[in-house]
Amino acid sequence: MPPSPDYAVDLADHYDDWFTPPTATTDATVSLLDRLAATAPEGPMLELGIGTGRIALPLAALGHDLHGIDAAKAMVEQLRAKTGGTEIAISIGDFSDVDHDGRFGMIYVVNGTFFELTSQEAQIHCLARAAARLLPGGIFVLDAHLPEVLAAEAGADAQPVRAASGDPVTRIRRIHPATQRYTSDYKVVHNGEVRHIRVAFRYASAGELDLMAAMAGLRLRQRFGGWSGRPFTDSSNYHVSVYELPS
Ligand SMILES: C[S@@+](CC[C@H](N)C(=O)[O-])C[C@H]1O[C@@H](n2cnc3c(N)ncnc32)[C@H](O)[C@@H]1O
Repeated sequence: MPPSPDYAVDLADHYDDWFTPPTATTDATVSLLDRLAATAPEGPMLELGIGTGRIALPLAALGHDLHGIDAAKAMVEQLRAKTGGTEIAISIGDFSDVDHDGRFGMIYVVNGTFFELTSQEAQIHCLARAAARLLPGGIFVLDAHLPEVLAAEAGADAQPVRAASGDPVTRIRRIHPATQRYTSDYKVVHNGEVRHIRVAFRYASAGELDLMAAMAGLRLRQRFGGWSGRPFTDSSNYHVSVYELPS
């Protein structure tokens, strides 16, 4: 392929505006991944869809040996221009192939990026390839929306989205249950200029994710209700799932 989403090509130079200064979610994501790494076998970490290094660079600054994969050179160029950005080994390609040298203590994919693999086949393939790249006892971490929450938003008007930059951003989500897909259309006003971004996803229930992971030989070790590390409960609308390759 490799699929480089349009937004990652056209808007790479503005991606960080949404998260600068670092949002509470960014800090919480880094913190929980750092804590999870302490429970994983010693070894490097691999981020799938590493983007501009929003999460990888702070983790590297904490002393982790970070590696990454991304299809969008424009996003990786942003990462390279930042402090520490030249020290991360990055493969350009489709992250579902997990084509990167080495074996890892932890592989992770965040910010809803796993669902950017828009077919069940690609998601199964990604989990299988990740399992093959984990050290025994290694962990695979992903975050995702719950389908019930996405469905509840179906048909809603444009929702305001909080961007750290203060730029006015609205989002419309459209859900397509027949194909288990959804799209998020963002309208961003930046310096008086209006930009439109569409991101396409394939959603899966937590149970389907567990099943696809099991097919790859991974078992669910822990599920949180968000990056704060809160418990996953009936009122959670998001989850962070930790899968383990049995030793
Ligand atoms: C929403 S951004 C997240 C970036 C970073 N992980 C973060 O949390 O800030 C998703 C990233 O995944 C990349 N991406 C999406 N689908 C991909 C694929 N199939 N293969 C490789 N990269 C992909 C995009 O280019 C983009 O950089």
